Order: sequence, then C-alpha cells, then structure tokens
Amino acid sequence: MLHKDCERLLYSQEEIAKRVIEVAQKIESEYQDKRLLALCVLKGASMFYADLIRHIKLPVEMGFIQISSYRNGTQSGEIQVKFADEQSYQDKDVLVVEDIVDSGNTLVFLKSYLLERGAKSVKTVTLLDKVSARKTNFQTDYACFAIENQFVVGYGLDYAEKYRNLPYVAVLSPTVYKE
Ligand code: IMP
Ligand code: MG
Repeated sequence: MLHKDCERLLYSQEEIAKRVIEVAQKIESEYQDKRLLALCVLKGASMFYADLIRHIKLPVEMGFIQISSYRNGTQSGEIQVKFADEQSYQDKDVLVVEDIVDSGNTLVFLKSYLLERGAKSVKTVTLLDKVSARKTNFQTDYACFAIENQFVVGYGLDYAEKYRNLPYVAVLSPTVYKE
C-alpha cells in the first residue's frame, strides 16, 4: 500500500528491479577492459547502488562520497563534499552512481572533482533523470527512468531524511512540504 504522504506510485519494486538489471548489463558490456570504481553518492543512491553493482559481473571496486546540496527542502543549494572515503581515484574508470539528476549541479561538480583527482574516466548512472529540470547542459551516461519535474521519494530518495526506506518510488504529496 502507498504511504499516506505520497500521492502517486511512479515505479514499483518489481519495475525498478527489472530496469536495474538491464542497466547493469549495459554497464557490464561497456566496462569489460576497464578498472571500474563504482562511486556511490550517499545517502540517496545507496539502495540503487547495492542492487546495481550486484548485477555487474566484473571486478568492481566500491567507493562512497557524500555531497551536500539539498538542505532539508526541495531547493538546491551550494555544493560541498561532506564525506569522502580513503579511496584513490587515480587511473580508475569511475562510475558515479546517483539517485536522481535534477539541475545537474551535483554531477557537474563531482565530475570535475574526480578528474582533478586523477580519474582516468568519469561516467554517471542515475536511477531517475529529471531531464526538464536541468540548469546545466549535463547529460547522464546511463539512466534507468526519465521523469517529469516533480518531487519524488522512496528507494533511497528522501524528503527531510524521511521515506528513504520505501521500496518503491512515489510522488510526494505537495501538502507535505507546503505545510
Ligand atoms: P542536482 O544537483 O540539482 O542535480 O540535484 C541532485 C540532488 O538533489 C539529488 O542527488 C537528490 O539528492 C536531490 N533531489 C533532486 N530532486 C529530488 C527529488 O525529487 N526527491 C529527492 N531528492 C531530490
Ligand atoms: Mg543525492
């Protein structure tokens, strides 16, 4: 049953699982001869990341980074690295794993951050892509689903740190953030 704070189901657990496998297989075929480091953008991408990398049948190095941009709301703010593990990006083919791309600011920032630190290549995969919300010319390399410009939660995505553990992706009722 849909959470009471959600107005509409976008993708069920089953739909997500099916699409994640397809995208993982595409990535697998394109990283055969590479040194793949899958970099999880915390916290939102954590569920997608765990599901995705388990379907990439290649040696995959794991890495984690946390960026702060959204502060307890639905508006984007200034971008900073809040946490980075001890991972070296030097000469690695880094695949950034994101929950959602909105303005594109986070990934534009992250891409140059990784290239400055010696990454050999940087590509991005996102669960959700809000294509019409872009404020940059950023394009993702792999996306599971393109969505309309609306605020969504679940499967890792939050509103004020809530709803991350919903197993599906749903549109949050605007009444929740307009209160
Ligand atoms: P961007 O830098 O504007 O592309 O924003 C990317 C980040 O904003 C994502 O990693 C999310 O954390 C957050 N975000 C954007 N849209 C949504 C949404 O609809 N639900 C939850 N988080 C969102
Ligand atoms: Mg995020």
